Amino acid sequence: MSKTVKDLIRSIVDFPHEGIVFRDVTTLFADAEGFRMAIGQLLAPYKGERIDKVIGLEARGFILGGAVAHQLSTGFVPIRKKGKLPGAVISEAYQLEYGEAVMEIHDDALTPGERVLIVDDLLATGGTAAAAITLCQRLRAEVMGCAFVIDLPELGGRKVLEGLGMEVHTLCE
Ligand code: PRP
Ligand code: ADE
Repeated sequence: MSKTVKDLIRSIVDFPHEGIVFRDVTTLFADAEGFRMAIGQLLAPYKGERIDKVIGLEARGFILGGAVAHQLSTGFVPIRKKGKLPGAVISEAYQLEYGEAVMEIHDDALTPGERVLIVDDLLATGGTAAAAITLCQRLRAEVMGCAFVIDLPELGGRKVLEGLGMEVHTLCE
């Protein structure tokens, strides 16, 4: 029997800190069939919907979001950690499972009314994705959905995003 997306994700204990089980998607990305399957499953709910831009969240969301954007024939927009984007930005601070960070988007990356899809590898507390949603909404884009390969349900991210009125699509827990 061929492998599932979940089978191809590796778990690394105590990374980046003791007590964290890090879900490593590099093994999924390295598998040609697995990567194709993950991209196909991520974009399936949005086929036939009008999506203008795919938003990828640093860092693994760039790999997934770029491939999804290519398949949906949309543009791609990165949301990056503080200080990485070269142009004028808007910023949002957020809490992580293991720390605190700031996300940024170029202030001219989206135009009002554009319909966007947010893509990342993993949903944990939902802090990163919630910051990304806020950034898109501050630019007056309409967030059509948030798609992740992995949901860590015990960290409550899905409830946080659904509480913001978002449609959340995940491939495995
Ligand atoms: C991971 C993951 C998500 C985020 C999810 O990224 O890729 O972006 O954490 O966590 P949350 O739902 O609790 O916000 P990380 O912050 O490790 O950054 P990296 O991709 O740059 O390594
Ligand atoms: N981001 C937040 N928690 C994570 C985890 N357990 N594995 C991979 N990325 C994460």
